Amino acid sequence: MKTQIKKICCIGAGYVGGPSMAIIADKCPHIVINVVDKNKQRIDQWNNNNLDKLPIYEPGLKNIIKKCRDNNLFFSNKIEENLREADMVFISVNTPTKTKGIGAGQAIDLKWIESCARQIGEFAKDHTIVVEKSTLPVRTAQTIKTILEAYTAKEKKEKVHSRSFSILSNPEFLAEGTAIYDLQNPDRILIGGDDNCALNALSDIYLNWVAKDKILKTDLWSSELSKLISNAFLAQRISSINSVSALCEVSGAKINNVAKAVGMDRRIGQDFLKAGPGFGGSCFKKDILNLIYICNHYGLNEVANYWQKVLDINYWQQKRITKVIIDNLFGTISEKKIAILGFAFKPNTNDTRESPAIAICNDLLEEGCYLSIYDPKVEKSQIQNEFSKFSGNSFNKSWNLAGSVYEAVSEVDALIFLTEWEEFSNLNYEIISEAMNIPKWIFDTRNIVEYKKIKDYGFKLWKLGEGIST
Ligand code: NAD
Ligand code: UGA
Repeated sequence: MKTQIKKICCIGAGYVGGPSMAIIADKCPHIVINVVDKNKQRIDQWNNNNLDKLPIYEPGLKNIIKKCRDNNLFFSNKIEENLREADMVFISVNTPTKTKGIGAGQAIDLKWIESCARQIGEFAKDHTIVVEKSTLPVRTAQTIKTILEAYTAKEKKEKVHSRSFSILSNPEFLAEGTAIYDLQNPDRILIGGDDNCALNALSDIYLNWVAKDKILKTDLWSSELSKLISNAFLAQRISSINSVSALCEVSGAKINNVAKAVGMDRRIGQDFLKAGPGFGGSCFKKDILNLIYICNHYGLNEVANYWQKVLDINYWQQKRITKVIIDNLFGTISEKKIAILGFAFKPNTNDTRESPAIAICNDLLEEGCYLSIYDPKVEKSQIQNEFSKFSGNSFNKSWNLAGSVYEAVSEVDALIFLTEWEEFSNLNYEIISEAMNIPKWIFDTRNIVEYKKIKDYGFKLWKLGEGIST
């Protein structure tokens, strides 16, 4: 039997739900897609006529929204109505780390997934294919199945028209900042499931723009676990290169030269070998914590400890950067003014979740300095929100958001690059030099500054993975 998908409902209009459904809408004009979310403000932002005010900034996104929105792509809060009409439902809701109870600080909080399963159980009609798009602990599909079966069992007992469900796992591998490109040109599409008809229905959607040999069909548990392991492997490479960055600084080697030499071995490869202030983003930390939790749950404590080290190095890298800055500013930054260039966890996104800038800025503020922060896409309320999670409102008066790099560097003792935004690669160091206090320190954690271009302006430069340039 062939299932032809005509209507999709996606629960969750976030960083994954919004862009991934926009691409399906663009590539499959024959399918109507309703993206629903319980957050009214987010939906209003998706429906904003001013495409510069979408809730997410991703290169290329606004053109696709312009083309598809209100044609075959709709954003609304009408969860019940759209679930009733859908042949296929994507679950694309947040899966954060639990903050309370058993597994707090490690396990994934599945309450949003459970509430989706209940909403689907309540409202879906006939046969519905349910697709896990969120990143989930291995065997979560069983939880969803059990909840849905409870709804159909009730119907069977009451002898009313019985509905049915197929569950698929289809994890998302997009990276923020390149989400549209990644969705249009995926390395692979992974679909796990045990119902061939459902597997084919989903793979038929992707076949509209993805080559057949890139669509990998597996069992459910392998699909769920592969997503966690992919993120763990990527994060592990970053922690590996970051650990080497510290060794370079003391030994005189240069991290970029080492990364290049190592990465040219095709068995290793060049990607994800950029040293920096530690990985941020909403997923690496939470997914590795979850992996650790799962390993411990199965009694695999050595495996759990191995992955814990990836997180330990990430934390240590952020702490040691703060220490380097304070040590070089004569051991004290109290009442000094410091410019922070870049607050997003990576360029080309306005996302600040788990950005290394949060912990580094917070540690600097604890030492009594004043921060002048500039980021091309991050808004003041986001920074305020991130700081308040760490330290309440204690530092409200200790920082400002500047409107440009040149405004941020006015009368500062040091400037710190924390995100590698393109505009930072072409700065006028003559103007910056005139604006700063002496000695003019630059701390570059993202390999942005070339010493030979700035040395005539009297700067002192510390580069991550190289140390002080002379
Ligand atoms: P997000 O927080 O940006 O969006 C999730 C949305 O789901 C929110 O708007 C929330 O209001 C909504 N929601 C939650 N429960 C709901 C419910 N019951 N009904 C209706 N709406 C509900 O999250 P995200 O970054 O899009 O991540 C979603 C999932 O995708 C996570 O599991 C994440 O690990 C995974 N993922 C994220 C990325 C990424 O780059 N952000 C990449 C790959 C995978
Ligand atoms: C990451 C993965 O790359 C995606 O495949 C995955 O889908 C996603 O997580 C997810 O599950 O959420 P993302 O976090 O958006 O994507 O961005 P990355 O490009 O992976 O960068 C993560 C962090 O690592 C950033 O802070 C970045 O600056 C840092 N990084 C990355 C480095 O420090 N060095 C590198 O070489 C690469």
